[in-house]
Amino acid sequence: MARRELKGLRAIVTGASAGIGRAMAIEMARAGVRCLLFARRQERLDEVREATRQAGTEASVVVGDVTNAADRAACLEFAQRELGGLDLLVNNAGISAGGDFAGESPDVLRKIFEVNFFAATELTREAIPLLRTGRTPMVVNVGSILGHRGIPFTSAYCASKFAITGWSQSLRAELSTMGIDVLLVSPGTTESELADHLVEQRVKLPWAGMKGVTAEYVARATIKAIARGSHEIVPNWRGWWMLVANRMAPTLLDKVMAKFARRAGR
Ligand SMILES: NC(=O)c1ccc[n+]([C@@H]2O[C@H](COP(=O)([O-])OP(=O)(O)OC[C@H]3O[C@@H](n4cnc5c(N)ncnc54)[C@H](OP(=O)(O)O)[C@@H]3O)[C@@H](O)[C@H]2O)c1
Repeated sequence: MARRELKGLRAIVTGASAGIGRAMAIEMARAGVRCLLFARRQERLDEVREATRQAGTEASVVVGDVTNAADRAACLEFAQRELGGLDLLVNNAGISAGGDFAGESPDVLRKIFEVNFFAATELTREAIPLLRTGRTPMVVNVGSILGHRGIPFTSAYCASKFAITGWSQSLRAELSTMGIDVLLVSPGTTESELADHLVEQRVKLPWAGMKGVTAEYVARATIKAIARGSHEIVPNWRGWWMLVANRMAPTLLDKVMAKFARRAGR
């Protein structure tokens, strides 16, 4: 994996209108990266564009839905036409839901996979020809610590993030033959709007309201990892400890999760 000079790189950031994607776009602008902000809410993207201008490198906006093939194509065409190519693809757009699996409609699982997994994989496949001609190119996939350890009442989200983890590992080996790096970012609880836009919420999670790290913290750690050429980061010490505990004592963690499930089910 290559170390890279960030200044002058060209990036697409999906889900750039809020939370981690917004923070990443602003941090990138500070480092001199020219960003293309891709999400559905125009007015929010315009606000982020203004923030990138103040941070030193004004971004461009493409309004669209990552699950829509025509919108993804328009985004890549814009990158080619306006930025002259692509060096970084940040697959960050994501959604979640809260509820037990047994009571969940299959539509919820499919909707979450469409945004969190299929949109990221399709956009990456479509972007590979452009990335191959880029400077020190990299795909950055925003997964989650829940892509390494499942928890109750977010099974669709956990499954979609496990899919991102496995796909990222396969992709890393394959794209290395083309000179394209793959970074997997696995955040833990992060302050963002994720919980405000749940596909559905049928259970109040016992850990809801747990204080997370800021989106800016995740963004800064990600920018450093891009520059270093890291394979994977877990930008959250609580999340890191959960993964260590899961490695050392998975059965104990199963018991803790079952206790949480009983408490939330009451
Ligand atoms: N927050 C956490 O605790 C946490 C922990 C681990 C991992 N993550 C991951 O971090 C990533 C960013 O989430 P966040 O926490 O920053 O949440 P957020 O504040 O809700 O931001 C989500 C972003 O995704 C965009 N988005 C959602 N559906 C989209 C679609 N169909 N097409 C285009 N854009 C779409 C939203 O923009 P529009 O609504 O404008 O389209 C928004 O910009 C996600 O992949 C999430 O799973 C978050």
